[in-house]
Amino acid sequence: MAFINPYINKILENEKILSENSEIYSKKWNWKEIFGNDNDIVLEIWIGLGNFFSNITMRNPDKNHIWIEIRYKRLHRTFEKLSEKLVNNFMLIKDKWENISQMFSLNELSQTYLFFPDPWANKERQKKNRIVSETFLLDLHKITKTGWSFIFKTDHKWYFDDSLEIIAKTPWKIKVQSYDYENELDVFDKTLMTEFEEIFRKDKIKVNYIELVK
Ligand SMILES: C[S@@+](CC[C@H](N)C(=O)[O-])C[C@H]1O[C@@H](n2cnc3c(N)ncnc32)[C@H](O)[C@@H]1O
Repeated sequence: MAFINPYINKILENEKILSENSEIYSKKWNWKEIFGNDNDIVLEIWIGLGNFFSNITMRNPDKNHIWIEIRYKRLHRTFEKLSEKLVNNFMLIKDKWENISQMFSLNELSQTYLFFPDPWANKERQKKNRIVSETFLLDLHKITKTGWSFIFKTDHKWYFDDSLEIIAKTPWKIKVQSYDYENELDVFDKTLMTEFEEIFRKDKIKVNYIELVK
C-alpha cells in the first residue's frame, strides 16, 4: 500500500521498529527473548531526533535500549543514526507513552529517561496533557525494578515545581534534584545531550534535573 507519508512504509518494513499494536503489546512478557539476553533494559520516552539515545546505545553495549516515539520520520531518522553507529542492542516503538504499562511487565525496566517534554504552559487547563502525572509515575514505578531509576529534565521551572508536588504523592524516592544541574551536579556530560538541550545550552537556559529511585 502507498501512503502519503513516505516514512510509513519504511517503518512498517523495518524489523527494529515495532509499529502495530499487536506486535508491540505481545512483547510485554518476552523482551529478553527479543534481545536474546538478560541485560538491563533502558527506556527513553519522547525521543525527538535520537542524538542522545544513539550515543548511549553505542556506549552501553551491555544494556538493551528501547525508545518510544510517535512520529514516523523521527523514528526513521533515529534508526539511521543507530545504523551509522553499527549497533544492534535496541528496539524502537512507534506508540504513545500513555501505553507504557501495556508494553512492559512488572519490575522489567532499569533506567528510564524523559527529556524536555512539552510543559503545556500556555493555559492552566492544558496541564492535564503533561506526561509527568500521578498516573504516569505510578505506571512507571510498577514496571521499574527496585533500586533503579527515572531521570527527568526540563527547561521549564513551573513544570518542574508542579512535578515535585506530584512526585511527593507517589512511592518514588528523590535521589538528586537541581534547578541548574550543569553547575550544581556532577552528572552533566556535554557529549550526551539531546537536540533540545543543545539549544538551551546555547541560550544559557538553566536545566532542571531530577533522578527518582524505586
Ligand atoms: C519536545 S520533542 C523531544 C525532545 C527531545 N527529548 C529532546 O530533548 O530533544 C517531543 C517529542 O515527543 C514526541 N511525542 C509527542 N507526543 C508523544 C506521545 N504521546 N508519546 C510518545 N512520543 C510523543 C514528539 O513526536 C517529539 O519527537
